[in-house]
Formats: sequence, structure tokens, C-alpha cells
Amino acid sequence: MNVVFLGATRGMGRALARLMAARGDRLFLLGRDLTELERTVRDLEITAGGSAIAFARCDLLEPGGFESALDQADAALGGVGTVVITAGLFATQEALEADRQLRADVLTADFTNTVQFCEAARPRLLARGGGTLCVFSSVAGERARKPVILYGAAKAGLSHYLEGLDHKYRAEGLRVVCVKPGFVKTGMTAGLTPPPFAGEPDAVARGVLRAIDRGRPVAFAPPIWRWVMLVIRCLPRAVMRRIGF
Ligand SMILES: NC(=O)c1ccc[n+]([C@@H]2O[C@H](COP(=O)([O-])OP(=O)(O)OC[C@H]3O[C@@H](n4cnc5c(N)ncnc54)[C@H](OP(=O)(O)O)[C@@H]3O)[C@@H](O)[C@H]2O)c1
Repeated sequence: MNVVFLGATRGMGRALARLMAARGDRLFLLGRDLTELERTVRDLEITAGGSAIAFARCDLLEPGGFESALDQADAALGGVGTVVITAGLFATQEALEADRQLRADVLTADFTNTVQFCEAARPRLLARGGGTLCVFSSVAGERARKPVILYGAAKAGLSHYLEGLDHKYRAEGLRVVCVKPGFVKTGMTAGLTPPPFAGEPDAVARGVLRAIDRGRPVAFAPPIWRWVMLVIRCLPRAVMRRIGF
């Protein structure tokens, strides 16, 4: 499959790109740092025995570059069937409350500009009869919780948008896959204490690839988070107010 991939330079994105490259998918990588993209291409050659077709710069905080990045991918791949977005930013609630610029960047990258990128990709996929749009949201968007109010609000908006997109366009052949990771051990969570059920990027990537292949609208990763969040969603407001979770 021909894949445009934004965010393959680290973490879960890198793990998923390796699986895709290993099975022969044709990847066009997008990211904000050309040196990291070059390193990722080499990594895919060495660890996955596959390779990316090419790469181009695309910064989630610079939406003016989205169309041209997708144009380059389209031209190099000869048509795009799958778009994957694992790129995203995280900061703790304390850091986000204290720093206005950081708050703007996280809210903009994780909600507004991820949606803008999807909106740029959507007509291109539909023009070719559909395809798959796989985007990483978070379990943090499932229920407002004290430690992730701001990051969670951005991801809640993103999940809501992706669900709506799936409702509207699945009949036209566009399969929207919203990935909702729980805590996964990557650079993003380095320094945080892993909770129970913390996942590993490689295992998460295998589950996500299955979800992409089957066109599942929602994929919790690791899958146990589906049941954890089912319980959390049922907790009364008074309980959520009292506990630190
Ligand atoms: N890890 C978790 O526990 C967890 C839980 C829930 C949801 N998630 C979500 O899952 C996704 C992947 O997370 P991860 O843990 O794999 O993160 P990660 O290891 O920190 O990787 C993040 C990726 O996003 C890219 N990125 C960051 N800012 C960007 C920007 N402005 N423009 C373009 N690319 C940018 C990074 O590129 P560079 O190499 O240039 O930095 C990197 O490739 C994110 O959306 C995250 O919010 C993660």
C-alpha cells in the first residue's frame, strides 16, 4: 500500500513504520526535521529491510506547508491510499498551565493542525475512491481528568472529529481509524511513572496495523484500555472530582 506517514521518526510511529516497511508498503515520510527523517529512512532499511520512497519536511505547527507536502508525496508515490498521523505533542498539566506558548503549541498541534492536515488529505483520498486515514488520538480524550485537562481536551476534540469523519465518509470508501493509546513507553512519556497496563511501542504497532488492515474505526492500544476507559467513563462526576486520576 502507498502510505504517507507523518511522525515516523520516533516512538509508536517509528515502530509502525518499521512493520509497514518490512511487509513492503511504500512509505513517504513527513516530519519537521530533515536529519531525523534521513535517520529514519536508514533505520527502515537496516531494521525492516524495507525502505521509504522519499521524505519531505512538514511541521504540524506550520499548516501552510501541508498541501505542498502532500503534493510531493502524491507525486513520489503515484497516488496515496493510506495516510498515517502519529505526530503529536505532550506536556504535563502543570507545564501547560504555566506556559502560554507551550499551551498554544500543544493545543494547535494536537487538535487544530492535525484536523487541518486531515482536511488536506481527505479530498485526495476520496478522489481516489477512499482509502485509510489513521490518526493517533489518546485515551486522555475519553474523560476529563485532572492530570491531563488541556492535552485531553485537544485529544477529545480530535477523537470527536475523527468519529464524525468516519460517520460521513465511510460509505464513500474512506476508512477512518482513530487510535487511542493508553500509557505507552516512548520518548513522550520518558520521566513519567508508568501506570499498570503500560504498553510497548512494538506491541502497540502490531495492533494498530491490524486495525488499519481491518479498517476498525477505533483501536485502543494496548487493547485493555478499552475496558479501563469503559469503567472511567461511568464514574460519577463527584468521584472524578475527589480522585487524582
Ligand atoms: N506515549 C503515550 O503514552 C501516548 C499516549 C496517548 C497518546 N499518544 C499519542 O500517540 C502519538 C505518538 O506518540 P509517541 O509516544 O510515539 O510520541 P513520540 O515518541 O514523542 O513521537 C512523536 C512524534 O511526533 C513528531 N512531532 C512532534 N511535533 C511535531 C511537529 N510540530 N511537526 C511534525 N512532527 C512532530 C515527532 O517528530 P520529531 O522526531 O521531529 O520530534 C515524533 O516523530 C502522539 O499523537 C501522542 O499524543 C501517546
